[in-house]
This record gives sequence, structure tokens and C-alpha cells, in this order.
Amino acid sequence: MKAELQAIQAEALAALKDVKTPDMLESLRITYFGRRGKLTEVMKGMGKLSKEERPEIGKLANEVRARLTAAFEETTQTLHRQQQEQQLAAESVDITLPGRKPAYGKAHPVMQTLERIEAIFRQMGFEVVTGPDIETEYYNFDALNTPADHPARDLHDTFYLTDGHLLRTHTSPVQIRAMENQKPPVRIIVPGKCYRVDYDVSHTPMFHQVEGLLVDKHATFSELKGILTSFARQMFGDKTQMRFRPHFFPFTEPSAEVDISCAVCQGKGCRSCGGTGWVEILGAGAVDPAVFEAVNYDPDEVTGFAFGMGVERIANLQFHIPDIRTLYESDLRFLRQF
Ligand code: DAH
Repeated sequence: MKAELQAIQAEALAALKDVKTPDMLESLRITYFGRRGKLTEVMKGMGKLSKEERPEIGKLANEVRARLTAAFEETTQTLHRQQQEQQLAAESVDITLPGRKPAYGKAHPVMQTLERIEAIFRQMGFEVVTGPDIETEYYNFDALNTPADHPARDLHDTFYLTDGHLLRTHTSPVQIRAMENQKPPVRIIVPGKCYRVDYDVSHTPMFHQVEGLLVDKHATFSELKGILTSFARQMFGDKTQMRFRPHFFPFTEPSAEVDISCAVCQGKGCRSCGGTGWVEILGAGAVDPAVFEAVNYDPDEVTGFAFGMGVERIANLQFHIPDIRTLYESDLRFLRQF
């Protein structure tokens, strides 16, 4: 029996060395400690031993059982540790991997241009104000000296809404709102969206303008010219030339259209400027007395100058976009170029 116990111990310890999984361990445990297990059977046989044998064999049996129990426990621990290590390895994160770059957005080319325009005028002391996109006929036309029977009214292909409302066709109505809300002097620019029924390579139904208004006791045309020249040179370069061509706007008298020397060919003449060397960038003029009367400014007390420019047109001069409709097609392959 002594030999048998020693054999069981040796055999069990050897078998434990090969255990790889909790299942293998469990079946081994049953082989030795189960109800019909090898060690259990030996223990059951103890009763048949003689009185003399019993103390010695009993002691040995207890030792073997303790030894094996400890070995099983140790293997259980080892398996547990291995399993934890495997799990950690499987779930590990390589902190040296470069992170995923968030896709940063950036300003739309029209907004980039608008921001530059605003920055230039701000630094010349202009305040930025805004007004509603949905306007009344009064602010968009009547107060700007463009009554219903005025031919200029038909030049704007207006989106009419109900109840005398419309989508503003220009930012000029904000001149009226601004003057209604403050006494002279006024020195504002008005960036914003405008709408006209128009759609071709150089027109989109929604576009942007920046309006300018300068009202003071002695505002002069030369001051306007100086401001616009400074703006054009900051926007398009030091060498930019300007010319004022007489024009008509209902809300200014006299009025001018303002051209700059073509930034693409430096005035030599190219496709961009239609061979003339000049490109029109804005309309301007001296505020018509009728406009001052509409806002209760005294035309004998103040003079004013106003201008309005198309932002897409200016963006186009900077970025050379063949068809400005592409600005509003939301194609990222196009927009990422700017
Ligand atoms: N509102 C005009 C347009 O949309 C542009 C303009 C011309 C604005 C002359 C002005 C101005 O303030 O004085 O075509």
C-alpha cells in the first residue's frame, strides 16, 4: 500500500505537469479525488489495514493527499494566471501607434474671402452689422429710392414671398435699418446673403455681398475713393489700380462702378478680364438725398457714401473658379483645394 501511495503521488504530479486547460485539470482531479478516484479508493482501503500498519500508512496517505491537494491548487493558480495573461495580451493597446487624425473642417472659400474683407474694413474703423435675409419691399426697394414703378426694380429678378415680403436682392436694405437705429456718424459694413433668380457660370440664386456705408457731416467722395483703393490694394496687391466709371443706382447720386486692374494679367488683358485689363468689383456712390429723407436724416446736414460688392466675384478673382456654381455643390474634392 505504501508503494501504491507513492506511485499515485508520482503519477499525479507528472500528469499535472502536462495540464494545459481547466478542463484537463478537472478531469485529473476526478481521476484522483473523485468518488471512485485513485486516491479515494486507497483511502477507503485503510479500514482493512492492521492496527500496526495503520499509523504509518495513514500518515503517509495524509501526506500524499496534502501534497497533491497543494499541487492541484498550484496548477489551478498557474492556469488562472496564464489565462489572465492571454486575455491581457489579446486586449492590449499599442500606445505607440499614431492616433487617428480628426478630420478638421475649414472655412468655405467664400467665407475665407468674406473674413478677409471684414478684417480689412474693421481695421479702417468700420463696424460690422447684419440684417434679415427676408425683407419687406419697403426696405429692399422703396426706402432705397426704388418705388414700384421704377425701372431699376425690374433689374433685380426678385424672389417674392407673400405679404409684401421677399428675399433681399442686395445688402443695401441694411443701410436703411442701420440709419433708422442710429444718428450720424455711421461707418458700417454689412456682410450677408442675397438672393436673385439667376443661374449661370457667374451667378447663383444665393450669393453674398458686403455693403458699406459712411455718413458724416463732411464725408467726401475722395474719402470713399481712398478707402476703396486701400481695400483693393490690401485685397489684391500693392500694384492694383482702380477706376471709377459713371453708372446709375437709384440710391446713390452720383454713382460709379468701380474696376480694378486685372490681378491675373496686371492689366495687360487676358481671358479673366475679357481682354480689357479691368474687372468690375463693386458699385458705389454718394447717398441720394431721398434715402436720407426716408430715415429722417437731414440731407443738408450730412453727406454719405455707400458701396456694395459681390463676395463670390472677389473670391473668383482670388481663386480663379471657372464656374462659380461649383462653390455651392458641396463637393469636398473641389472645396478642399482652397
Ligand atoms: N446694391 C447694389 C447691387 O446689388 C450694389 C451697390 C451699389 C450698393 C452702389 C451700394 C451702392 O451701396 O452705393 O447691385
